[in-house]
Amino acid sequence: MTGVMRHLPHFLGLAIALAGAAASAGDAERGYRLLLAKPYLPPDFDQETFDEVWREWPEPLRTEAGQAAVEERRRMAFSRYGLTRRPLPRKNSGAAPLQYVVDEAGRWTMNCFACHGGKVAGRVIPGLPNSHYALQTLSEEIRSTKLDMEKPLSRMDLGSMFLPLGTTRGTTNAVMFGVALLANRDAELNLVNRLSLPEMTHHDMDPPPWWHFKKKSHIYIDGFAERGHRGLMQFVLVKENGPEKLRQWEDDFRDIYAYLMSIEAPEYPFEINEALAGRGERAFLKNCAECHGTYGDEETYPNRIVPIEEIGTDRVRLDALTAEARRRYDESWIAEFGRQETRLDPGGYLAPPLDGVWATAPYFHNGSIPTLWHVLHPSERPAIWRRTREDGYDRERVGPVIETFAELPPAAYEPRERREYFDTTRFGKSAAGHHFPDALTEDEKHAVLEYLKTL
Ligand code: HEC
Ligand code: HEC
Repeated sequence: MTGVMRHLPHFLGLAIALAGAAASAGDAERGYRLLLAKPYLPPDFDQETFDEVWREWPEPLRTEAGQAAVEERRRMAFSRYGLTRRPLPRKNSGAAPLQYVVDEAGRWTMNCFACHGGKVAGRVIPGLPNSHYALQTLSEEIRSTKLDMEKPLSRMDLGSMFLPLGTTRGTTNAVMFGVALLANRDAELNLVNRLSLPEMTHHDMDPPPWWHFKKKSHIYIDGFAERGHRGLMQFVLVKENGPEKLRQWEDDFRDIYAYLMSIEAPEYPFEINEALAGRGERAFLKNCAECHGTYGDEETYPNRIVPIEEIGTDRVRLDALTAEARRRYDESWIAEFGRQETRLDPGGYLAPPLDGVWATAPYFHNGSIPTLWHVLHPSERPAIWRRTREDGYDRERVGPVIETFAELPPAAYEPRERREYFDTTRFGKSAAGHHFPDALTEDEKHAVLEYLKTL
């Protein structure tokens, strides 16, 4: 069935998944609708504020926006912050982006798609990591706009003055948001006042695509948490949501879980050299499948955690989630008071499935590697790189169209501009490790690259 579903449009696949899964708990279609329509957090800002935010932009963008019509200005704002339209026209969805719920009063509330829904080669795909999202810049410019308009600041506006949100476009400090939210709760998720703040190691991460969820017994890059619907609720643990509300929402999150389980990887939209890919498959089976599994008719996925010393990629994320933070998670309602299997010391990173890997650049958990070609050529990875065209897609190297730098150019000294550059010399952003492709010849690498497009 998997093979057939990959060829169907998203919504049809969903309908079939629903028919086939009638007996199991959770309604995938409802889960998707909830994410688009139901605000689980207090609103971030209103339409009026969003429509004025261009006044905070640097020149010459500000003048350009000032001369543009409202619609064009909104389009520019979507582009600046990494927002996209919704993939299917839905009743009353209006001009709302995929990444925010917009209610009838025009209030915008961030949803899961802010980080988990984006576009590749110009195509919008729910569940795709949003590699364009500029959360920090959006929050800063919205805050200044509100101050200019004498509007009250939200909790998010204030919180973001103390907690860094993300230092590179497309990546966020999401793991530390999770730690901060859980630190204010007891095991039953009642709100408590802690005397001291939890230990925090701020760092940015690139989220994984949601179509891997169904293959994983344990989620997150270190595979520390057993998959379950309650785990999906971490992001809504803001103070405004008391324990009763969370329990009321549990059924919603069963449906959101079902939706995540139903998502299929998108197919590579360009031509593939089948003969070359076939040769690549043989090299892949020999060198890569033991960790990443097999694809096609005989799907396997070993859920294998590779010790940090062996994988050698950036270790900040592994250490940032302290034993204390992991224990707090393990003992809470989220992990069913320890009934779920939570790993307190995973010791490494989970080799992810590679379904749809053509679409999920940049690579590695911190998003440090711009293309698959760079994954396969460890000694050629750039120290600093940035995307040059919003919807540019490089079919040769498989990933965004980029330019590279040996050191940060002067343009990047301005803080907002700097977030456009991925600087691998900074904390938590190393592009080292994963030297397994060194075992391949150049010809084999070329073939494996072609094969990876077919997954
Ligand atoms: C601010 C960005 C952000 C938002 C908003 C967000 N996530 Fe995530 N999510 C991430 C990042 C980053 C990771 C990777 C964390 C890790 O591996 O340690 C992640 C990981 C996950 C995973 C694990 C996937 C896997 O294959 O291991 C799931 C499931 C998930 N998020 C679901 C959700 C849901 C459901 C929501 C909304 C209720 C949500 N996320 C909101 C950034 C976000
Ligand atoms: C010993 C286990 C192991 C072997 C062998 C291995 N990998 Fe990996 N691979 C990993 C792990 C673990 C990660 C995650 C690293 C991280 O994000 O820090 C990874 C990440 C990747 C990624 C990035 C995925 C993403 O979405 O970010 C690609 C692509 C990849 N591997 C391809 C390959 C190819 C091709 C081979 C064979 C030449 C291979 N790997 C061999 C363990 C392995």
